[in-house]
Amino acid sequence: MPDTLTITDNRTGKTYEIPIQDGTIRAMDLRQIKVSDDDFGLMSYDPAFKNTACCRSAITLIDGERGILRYRGYPIEQLAEKSTFLEVSYLLLHGELPNKAQYDGWVDEITHHTYVHEFLKEAMRGFRYDAHPMGKLVSMLGALSTFYPESKKVRDPEVRKRHIIKAIAKMPTLAAWAYRHSLGQPYVYPDNELSYVGNFMAMLFKLAEPKYEPHPVLERALDVLFILHADHEQNCSANAMRSVGSSEADPYVSLAAASAALYGPLHGGANEAVLRMLQAIGSVDRIPEFIEGVKNGKGRLMGFGHRVYKNYDPRARVIKNLAHEVFEVTGKNPLLDIAVELEKIALEDEYFVKRRLYPNVDFYSGLIYQAMGFPTEMFPVLFAIPRTTGWLAQWQEMLTDPEQKIARPRQVYVGAGERDYVPMDARG
Ligand code: CMC
Repeated sequence: MPDTLTITDNRTGKTYEIPIQDGTIRAMDLRQIKVSDDDFGLMSYDPAFKNTACCRSAITLIDGERGILRYRGYPIEQLAEKSTFLEVSYLLLHGELPNKAQYDGWVDEITHHTYVHEFLKEAMRGFRYDAHPMGKLVSMLGALSTFYPESKKVRDPEVRKRHIIKAIAKMPTLAAWAYRHSLGQPYVYPDNELSYVGNFMAMLFKLAEPKYEPHPVLERALDVLFILHADHEQNCSANAMRSVGSSEADPYVSLAAASAALYGPLHGGANEAVLRMLQAIGSVDRIPEFIEGVKNGKGRLMGFGHRVYKNYDPRARVIKNLAHEVFEVTGKNPLLDIAVELEKIALEDEYFVKRRLYPNVDFYSGLIYQAMGFPTEMFPVLFAIPRTTGWLAQWQEMLTDPEQKIARPRQVYVGAGERDYVPMDARG
């Protein structure tokens, strides 16, 4: 059987044969389908890209039906158990796990690029004390671009590599400074003797002690959370990264755009929204009333549902187990009982079952972050730091893909036909 699709255009009676590759047809192959010579040709209409592949990618696989997530072929559960965030970063960006020398070199390079220019502190001062840290992070990424004009040479692999390292290295510093700024506390400079995550914790939480020692269980938990959030193929923010990057904008402004996309409550802002929702519910006995409200269209059950997963998000399962390890150190988060009961009820309720709505990565992550002492506003920032690696891997793949060009969707124009300009005093 040939791998083709036969289309008959009933407007003209003409038949076309279109190749099928990897379960897709090329949208451009539809263009030959015309009713007349001056017809533009057939397009596909796909608001929100629900059924459009925008690239061929070898980075991350999600099988949403079966609840599977793999980075470069490796199951997320194995990486969460056995790897480290920086090793996963290397894997995502280079395609293979590093050997010992490659790993040591990679960690060394990231560790030695964590400082940011002192002038950025001045830029941070411009924000009010209550500015949301994601707003600050987005701005600081834009500001970083101005320090590295060289990064505009996005077609140069050496330049790309240098700025990929800088961006991954500096994200925790910017994030921690955004946090310290809110508290009015002095910024803490990077400590190169600590791990990537340990150093981030030190820049967040260090006070007068001469040396900050991260708690090993919490340090590992945050590292695992970073692994789980490192990439998720063509989501809203990865699409923003690819789309902005496709104009050959430098990586820092492209990362600012991706972070802005992540900030929204339907994407990376969902973990923050979950916490606010659990707080608003307040107690287990109020869950049925809340669920009824959701079913009647009064808001959504945040941390549930996913465009791709129609099964339990594998990251949510790892996080649920991780939560217990963290709570042994921090004490149980009192909102956990509400979350567990909410999940139980929702998984049995016909509304959620019928729509195949399961917990996603954000359902339990906020509880861990809160138990570790992070304020709610920092949750999307904790998502943005590790996702920077995924964004950069997607960006690099886009730039090195000969089929990619500047992203430029089409539209179906439904506005007014041509009409003459009317002077203001003649308008009704
Ligand atoms: N609570 C209640 N109903 C829901 C929910 C929810 N969380 N999610 C989807 N639905 C319903 C929706 O109302 C619709 O019902 P109907 O068919 O009766 O109109 C149906 O399920 C399909 O929903 P949709 O909006 O067409 O699905 P989508 O693929 O456009 O949206 C989503 C995916 C993640 C935006 C959505 O499920 C949602 O808003 N979830 C809550 C926010 C959230 O947890 N986001 C984090 C996503 S995972 C992390 C990340 O990628 O950033």
